[in-house]
Amino acid sequence: MELDLLKPQIDQIIADTERTPDQKMEAICELLQTSVAHYDWVGFYFKNGDKNELKLRAFAGEPTDHTIIPFGKGICGQVAVSNENFVVPDVAAQDNYIACSINVKAEVVIPLFVNGENIGQIDIDSHTPDPFTEADERFLEYINKKVATLL
Ligand code: SME
Repeated sequence: MELDLLKPQIDQIIADTERTPDQKMEAICELLQTSVAHYDWVGFYFKNGDKNELKLRAFAGEPTDHTIIPFGKGICGQVAVSNENFVVPDVAAQDNYIACSINVKAEVVIPLFVNGENIGQIDIDSHTPDPFTEADERFLEYINKKVATLL
């Protein structure tokens, strides 16, 4: 799947006046998870009020027990404090990792900024080892910029 080919569909979801921001995020998760072969679980986490933790807001794929993640814990919690993309080619090589499913081999988490503040992130799990390239990072940054306009 050429990732850029999905951008018009992302733009269309963002512009849809019939859907709420939560419904738009769910539709984006669904589109990504069903269209990109190496995206097996796709979710958006956001800072939970004034707590130093992330809360799952929208996802597609298997339900996860990890709907709340403290800052600093796991790949997601680390990105909440580092403000940087985190590409994990092999989750088994990570000490600070929260396993959602034994099938997951790799993960990428990209922070989402509103007015320069890291308020959330998109998280992708893959059952394929080492599948993520810079094309994924640029594409997911594009999506986060679009989602930021909804918030
Ligand atoms: N693996 C993540 C936890 C979230 S699940 O992938 C849905 C982490 O280590 O933060």
